[in-house]
Amino acid sequence: MLDKLKAHRAKTEGRTIASLFETPDRAHRFSVETGDLLFDYSKTSIDTQAQWLLLQLAEAAGVARRRDEMFEGKAINETEGRAVLHTALRNLDGDAVVVDGKAVMPGVLETLSRMSSFAEEVREGRFKGQGGRITDVVNIGIGGSDLGPAMATLALAPYHDGPRCHFVSNVDGADIATALQGLDPRTTLVIVASKTFTTAETMTNAETARDWMGEAVADPASQFAALSSAKDKTAEFGIDPSRVFGFEDWVGGRYSMWGPIGLSLMIAIGPDAFRAFLRGGQAMDLHFRSAEMKENMPVLLALVGIWNHQVCGYPTRAVLPYEQRLARLPAYLQQLEMESNGKRVRMDGSALDTVSGPVVWGEPGTNGQHAFYQLIHQGTGIVPCEFMVGARGFEEELEHQHTLLVANCLAQAEALMRGRSMDEAREIMRKKGLEGDELERQAAHRVFPGNRPSTMLVYPQLTPEILGQIVALYEHRVFVEGVILGINSFDQWGVELGKELAKSLEPVLTGKDAGTDKDESTRMLVARLRALK
Ligand code: F6P
Repeated sequence: MLDKLKAHRAKTEGRTIASLFETPDRAHRFSVETGDLLFDYSKTSIDTQAQWLLLQLAEAAGVARRRDEMFEGKAINETEGRAVLHTALRNLDGDAVVVDGKAVMPGVLETLSRMSSFAEEVREGRFKGQGGRITDVVNIGIGGSDLGPAMATLALAPYHDGPRCHFVSNVDGADIATALQGLDPRTTLVIVASKTFTTAETMTNAETARDWMGEAVADPASQFAALSSAKDKTAEFGIDPSRVFGFEDWVGGRYSMWGPIGLSLMIAIGPDAFRAFLRGGQAMDLHFRSAEMKENMPVLLALVGIWNHQVCGYPTRAVLPYEQRLARLPAYLQQLEMESNGKRVRMDGSALDTVSGPVVWGEPGTNGQHAFYQLIHQGTGIVPCEFMVGARGFEEELEHQHTLLVANCLAQAEALMRGRSMDEAREIMRKKGLEGDELERQAAHRVFPGNRPSTMLVYPQLTPEILGQIVALYEHRVFVEGVILGINSFDQWGVELGKELAKSLEPVLTGKDAGTDKDESTRMLVARLRALK
């Protein structure tokens, strides 16, 4: 089916996106709505035939079957022998979910209720530090144990009425040193977020935080909580089981913010707002499970991705939220999409015969406009852009700024599609009084080729429920793209080798090991770094 899509693409490549709008009602026929979201993909080169072929591709890949298997708790993460059920974490009032013959919802709901009680205790000052009410929460985690809650806590800042939240992830001591600066250890709660409780960065930072706290309080562990599946290890660290919130192995790290890993977010915005976030995710799940493929938002978002990357060959995609508080969304999506779909073999171990997931990058608008949009508009490579924007901001007194923000967002999508021709550029130069060769030269620099694809996600306002819908939308998009590629989106073996080598390099850097097994370049760099110390 990919071949058919490529053949169709080759046949229609000369046609512009703008010309596709000659078909009546294109904007409606190439957009979809669910819940609070409108997803418009009419400003892409997908035409009716491509749309049909893409839907055929999804059908042939067995997306619907695989989706049902995921929700039914089948072990679709085949390389780790695990079910994939992060959706159970937001299945607030849904059906029973069974894994290996065991109903999992009672446990999920019980943990959610324990988290809520603890969050309330912290927020209301009933859980105290050794210096009184908790003023600051420090979440120590990395990857999925950091990016989700960090992204969402910033995104939902208008709902933040709990203690201040800080996020530490990097093993670079600068990260934790900066986060702890100015905090009172006697009124700080440290949350160690690590599914495995073995991740080197997190455990190193957790020990640093414990030492920092130990200098000021008699019993530092009493101001620690843990979010982890490894209860033996959290006990070894000294954290009381009443402050350990666990989750099962069927929740992948990058899909884990809906459960205990979301505790810092819950403390920041409160259990009610957190539940609204879960409800948003659940609403997207219901849509994903029940909507027909041609009206299914995650499926269509995925198909646009497949079209741009696998069919048209555009190597990256930019995520461009016109929402300052979504500043961490691109980083969050980088892990979600690239750790999930950056694979080289299919589920059965055979080599993938197409490119895998694209590079995902981005920045909030309008900042990106004054940085990298030059390349997006006039560079020779094409970057499909995924815009998102809310109708309303939270700064009511600054409504005029929000209007400007929205105008910029829509303008960029329009500019990307229509571009500016040489004739239009010449006209501009003529009005400036230029003529002859100089007019031609200057006009050439002002041409925008246009015909560059973008999509737009529109929502009313960035509430917890809407953020939940957006995050779940992207999770399912990644899932659908993975199924179409035939890969396992739920393992991450590609992060292992670097971790192992870092362990073996530590003694080389400290001089305890000569590092004779290292290559010449690595040995030279080690020698230089040691000499420069
Ligand atoms: O980078 C690999 C990874 O396993 C991610 O998938 C995960 O989110 C992160 O490390 C953190 O893992 P943990 O929660 O076990 O500390």
